[in-house]
Amino acid sequence: MTLTTKLLGSRAVAAMTSPHGVDRYLEMFNPMWVVTEVRARVVDIQRENPAAQGSAPVATITLQPTSTWRGHRAGQYVQVGVELPGSARRMTRCFSISSAASLPGERITLTIRANDEGQVSKFLVNEAKVGQMLHLSQADGDFTIHESAATPTANHLVMISGGSGITPVMSQIRTLLRDGYDGRANRKVTFIHFARSPEDQIFADELAAIAEGDNHIDVHLRYGDATFSEFELRRLIPDFRNTDTWACGPGGLIELVKEAYGDSPRLRVEFFKPPAVSLGSAEGSVSFTRAGASAENTGASLLEQAEALGLKPEFGCRMGICFSCVKTKTDGTVRNILTGEESSLPDEEVRLCVSAPVGDCSVDL
Ligand code: FES
Repeated sequence: MTLTTKLLGSRAVAAMTSPHGVDRYLEMFNPMWVVTEVRARVVDIQRENPAAQGSAPVATITLQPTSTWRGHRAGQYVQVGVELPGSARRMTRCFSISSAASLPGERITLTIRANDEGQVSKFLVNEAKVGQMLHLSQADGDFTIHESAATPTANHLVMISGGSGITPVMSQIRTLLRDGYDGRANRKVTFIHFARSPEDQIFADELAAIAEGDNHIDVHLRYGDATFSEFELRRLIPDFRNTDTWACGPGGLIELVKEAYGDSPRLRVEFFKPPAVSLGSAEGSVSFTRAGASAENTGASLLEQAEALGLKPEFGCRMGICFSCVKTKTDGTVRNILTGEESSLPDEEVRLCVSAPVGDCSVDL
């Protein structure tokens, strides 16, 4: 740490620049000068699925983070903040990092699908320009490969992904390949991926090269109506329940994978979209007391039910990661959409995006 950085990070400077903080003032000279915040400059944007008809465009965006970036482990995500044109508010969303594990200050890539309902993802894919500055969080998340390529005990690894869930898995595979994973000591990776069609397949050329390479990574791509089957998994890996496995994708795929693995501790999962909750059990009514709004409980998440009533609660990732949608549930029971756990504690902080009311429920919103 240089003397200048030390000085700028001191309490005295923090007090002098309060309430905005020193980074706000440094930004006027150079947006890449920061002491505490993390920002990143877009240095490249590449379209990933140019041939895909009828599916959302996907782009890989290369970012040069500021020197405050602490690096990431393969499989982690970051929150990206942008001020959208015409919006006074900064919006944040979580995106998995698709590049291999990084060291402090190193470049990273995000591979983003411009979902119809995703304002931030659409902006980044369709409108962001090289040179644009973005706000970043530090990397976070536990969906990581704890073994390094040099760990002799990591004999067989299984990666299962669906759709955009391929991005953290690509970070893991790229890290293994970069760090010298080569199949010695019986090491092997079985990678199964489900995509809508070959045209919609992102990283297609790289996956083909990995599949053909002499690297002990078996790539199995499944398209169209093909769904995950325990039978196929058992055929590929007879002892899969005792094999370290990472699975990432839509809620439906992850539910099937979890069913196959039962209570095996070798499975780690990551949803990129929470599974839809069953509407059949919806009963009672939901009240957002501060706004004075209420409606019949539809069984959807509290966030969706609030939005259906015209409310605009703050949110970020919409998948239970960023905690920007936390509000106090003053009364009633909620079910965690990701874990199925129910909680009836009064005056409890809940994440609106992954909490579905069970019966009557009131939220201080
Ligand atoms: S919006 Fe991120 S946790 Fe709810």
